[in-house]
Amino acid sequence: MVSRTAALLLSGIALLQVHAQTIPIPAELVGTWNSKANSTMTGPGFYDPVNEKFTEPEHPGISYSFTADGYFEEAYYRAVANPQDPKCPKGIIQWQHGKFEKRTDGSLKLTPIKVDGRQIYSDPCAYKNSIYTRYNQSSTFKTYQVLVDPYHKIQRLNLFKFDGAPVMPLYLAMNPPTMLPTTTLNPLTTQTATPHKIKRGELPLNHEVIFKRTPGELRAAQWWWFGVFLTASGGALYFFF
Ligand SMILES: *[C@@H]1O[C@H](CO)[C@@H](O)[C@H](O)[C@H]1NC(C)=O
Ligand SMILES: *[C@@H]1O[C@H](CO)[C@@H](O)[C@H](O)[C@H]1NC(C)=O
Repeated sequence: MVSRTAALLLSGIALLQVHAQTIPIPAELVGTWNSKANSTMTGPGFYDPVNEKFTEPEHPGISYSFTADGYFEEAYYRAVANPQDPKCPKGIIQWQHGKFEKRTDGSLKLTPIKVDGRQIYSDPCAYKNSIYTRYNQSSTFKTYQVLVDPYHKIQRLNLFKFDGAPVMPLYLAMNPPTMLPTTTLNPLTTQTATPHKIKRGELPLNHEVIFKRTPGELRAAQWWWFGVFLTASGGALYFFF
């Protein structure tokens, strides 16, 4: 009787352990995935940690890289419209890397190396300088799908945020992925890691560049995720091209 209870207890514990476990990273996820404009891409072409410098991509967009051994890197370049004053858009560049895991419930959990992430925030009408700071933000994608895009005929990654909202579609750009070293970069950058400002002339972001294209040029197919950002940000418009 005692041993039966013990066996039940043990199997209960085993079940709990299985539930909390992570599962091997599927090969289909490995690579560098870029949003459609394909100009924002992880790796040394986006962020130079030695000189603390970003190279501004030609178009706003996002990029994720995943390795088979559980490392990720992400690159964001976005313009945020200001509905009160359309001439005053804000620009944001973000970069992070760290480890990720796939959970048994199908979700992906991304844990950045906190000291390595960087952000440039530019609000030209409010501040003369852009603001360059550390940035760290863990994220969980509830689920994801890898499929062959029926229109572009290339591998496509659909990520879904923790609440199920879709991230804009990403397309396979590189495999193996293009990434900076996956270890902590901070030892290289300790001296410059404190928040500081960048003078206007040195801005990687500016008004003209952000609005190279008008929202009217957005393809109809992009509106489904555009709407999601509109809702999620409580009225602020996020333009990705
Ligand atoms: C990570 O982000 C949080 C929230 O912004 C901040 O309080 C914390 O200092 C950051 N950590 C590092 C190491 O930058
Ligand atoms: C995206 O850019 C990369 C790097 O320049 C290139 O190798 C790849 O073919 C591009 N993908 C598409 C779909 O244009």
